[in-house]
Amino acid sequence: MSLSVSSLIQQMTLEEKAALCIGATPWQTLSIDRLGLPHITVSDGPHGVRRAIDPTAMINESFPATCFPVAAALGATWDKDLLFELGQALGEECIALDVDVLLGPGINMKRSPLCGRNFEYFAEDPLLAGVLSARLIQGVQSRGVGTSLKHFAVNNQETRRFTIDAVVDERTLHEIYLTGFEIAVKQGQPWTVMCAYNSVNGHLCSQNEYLLTTVLRDLWGYEGFVMSDWGAVRDRVPSLEAGLDLQMPGPSPHGIQEVVAAVKSGALDEAILNRTVERLLNIILRAKETPKGSHNIDVEGHHALARRIASEAIVLLKNEGSLLPLKGDETLAVIGNAAVSPVFQGGGSSHIKATKIDAPLTFLQEKAEVRFSMGDSGGQTVDQTLIGQAVSTAQSADVALLFIALPSRIESEGYDRPDLNLTAHQVALIQAVIAVQPRTIVVLNNGSAINMHPWIDAVPAVLEAWLPGQAGAGAIIDVLYGVINPSGKLTETFPLALSDTPSYLNFPGENGTVRYGEGLYIGYRGYEALNRDVLFPFGYGLSYTQFRYDNLRVSQTEFTADEAITVTVDITNTGSRSGKEVVQVYVHDPVSRLRRPIKELKAFAKVALEAGETKTVSFQLDNRAFSYYDPGYHQWVADAGEFEILVGSSSANIHVRQTITMTEGTPLAPLLNLNSTMGDWLAHPRSAMLVQPLVDAMRQMNETSADSDALGADMEAFFIDLPLVTMFGFGFQGQDMGMSPRQKVEAMIEAATSEGES
Ligand code: BGC
Repeated sequence: MSLSVSSLIQQMTLEEKAALCIGATPWQTLSIDRLGLPHITVSDGPHGVRRAIDPTAMINESFPATCFPVAAALGATWDKDLLFELGQALGEECIALDVDVLLGPGINMKRSPLCGRNFEYFAEDPLLAGVLSARLIQGVQSRGVGTSLKHFAVNNQETRRFTIDAVVDERTLHEIYLTGFEIAVKQGQPWTVMCAYNSVNGHLCSQNEYLLTTVLRDLWGYEGFVMSDWGAVRDRVPSLEAGLDLQMPGPSPHGIQEVVAAVKSGALDEAILNRTVERLLNIILRAKETPKGSHNIDVEGHHALARRIASEAIVLLKNEGSLLPLKGDETLAVIGNAAVSPVFQGGGSSHIKATKIDAPLTFLQEKAEVRFSMGDSGGQTVDQTLIGQAVSTAQSADVALLFIALPSRIESEGYDRPDLNLTAHQVALIQAVIAVQPRTIVVLNNGSAINMHPWIDAVPAVLEAWLPGQAGAGAIIDVLYGVINPSGKLTETFPLALSDTPSYLNFPGENGTVRYGEGLYIGYRGYEALNRDVLFPFGYGLSYTQFRYDNLRVSQTEFTADEAITVTVDITNTGSRSGKEVVQVYVHDPVSRLRRPIKELKAFAKVALEAGETKTVSFQLDNRAFSYYDPGYHQWVADAGEFEILVGSSSANIHVRQTITMTEGTPLAPLLNLNSTMGDWLAHPRSAMLVQPLVDAMRQMNETSADSDALGADMEAFFIDLPLVTMFGFGFQGQDMGMSPRQKVEAMIEAATSEGES
């Protein structure tokens, strides 16, 4: 391709430039024949390629493609390499279907289990979502196909998703809601980022200069282009200025006219338009370096990959008396419509027309003598006839397998769940079956936490199979029979009750606003800080074997803020079958200037071990692993002092720990203003020096006072919260320079914070 970006920009008319910044069709950019500029085609996304047969129409049939497990399942694999492999396969399907950019991955935080779109998201933890999605992005893009990291940002609910204003403080924004995007952008460099519909702190994401330019480009060094979510742009000119490059969907002749008129009137600097055109052309030309539409999908190969991923994602939640794996000689009562019509993906824009669909019942019939009962029709009301049939089927077999799928009309894009419950019929069905068949195994299909309270204690074995994609059935059967040893781990906490969830009182908001009142404390950060019991903790999942953690060691026990440390641990499979363990490294900061969660995930690895085998696993922890975002300084800060490295098999099951000491933290100037208290002044050596004479004078006055007990209080504690300006007002003059208390404090702030001093 001999087209060059700069010569194209020179040759394009103002109208063409404006038109390039808005989709020409719902799924394509503009092509300009006279310049030989081709269009690119985008397609949902994220866990398969939903390529519209007619990309000039908004909603229509799509071509068949492999429906891989949804992001909730991908997260539960905790497997970076597998995500890369999936990315490669998705990239190949994009090439086969003539798609230049896949609209995914979606990595919004699971703030509440009620979010209807949680199945499309990875985790309640930003590091986990960021690292896994970065590998997926790398995989897709290694094939010459782009991705669209979405939905940027703070899109954590479906209620009023087009307009809701998410009110979130700066620290929480950076530590929880932006960190995943930051990791994905820095490690993956997605060709495109998709902005969210909602507003953040009063500004629509599509017109949010802080998010789209200051954070994304200036802070993180993003190089691709930003597209809007479908219909997220309200006013084209302010969105261009804020950094929104491509408005989708198109066409929008009106939007083009707005931009042309703004440039002509001088209201919009043409340099801003050129900047956006340049970003778009860079990606369009890059996409066209890879010819597309030239081969067919590897249907069988990708179906097998989808099955392998699903098997890595299944979480064994409960297995009392080692009911699982099945021995192979049991007769089975298979109950549940989901065994015949599997629920394997969610509703909305991510819906894939699968190339083929496996059903659990078919596989089970090849394995065992099976009696089937429909059990569940998907209705809400309890159907006693179906339950009666299920009960007699369960009684007639050695083991009952209950397939329970949350109906997709309950969990979908576009709206949130009202509660965590299964349908009343499903609960009654489980209870009736377990009452007659103690050897009952529940297999779940859902995209986010559900309430198990009414039955969990009575049921000996539970598999969380998520929405496992078109080949999920084989994975479920492999785990049931022990062909695969389960190794998935939860990426979201399963609470005991909805009212325990940290965002409960602030979800989904009211009057068009949702206040992120729980701050940093979503997911395990919240349950731990509030000391709340949970049903299953973050990072949890059982195996058919056991693992031992030994020998935690660190490259240095003393380090400074700019040194990375290496953490090493030995993991042994102490059981009698091979298996995989997800080793999780958390950091605990016992004393910090700003309050922090009790622990936070900072690294992880999935390790395969034969029976009896030991492997040594190492992790790098850099400065960020010890830092928090200080909104006072608008930057990441690590405090000197002790940190505890915790290594375990879930957030609640830490096996080995080691304390290390940061001898020097992030260098910071004192942060002072007129409200700064004596305590604030004393907190930094540079400012402490300046108030020390006052403190000494106070002490002396107190000691020499005839009635040193006059206030009946601890004098130091009493004074620590007094603003310096008030101290002066009380008559502690310090050096009187003929200035008012305010002037004195201002002069001291200047002295404490001026450059070059230490
Ligand atoms: C969704 C996006 C999707 C887009 C195109 C929007 O409603 O939020 O995730 O990529 O539609 O289908």
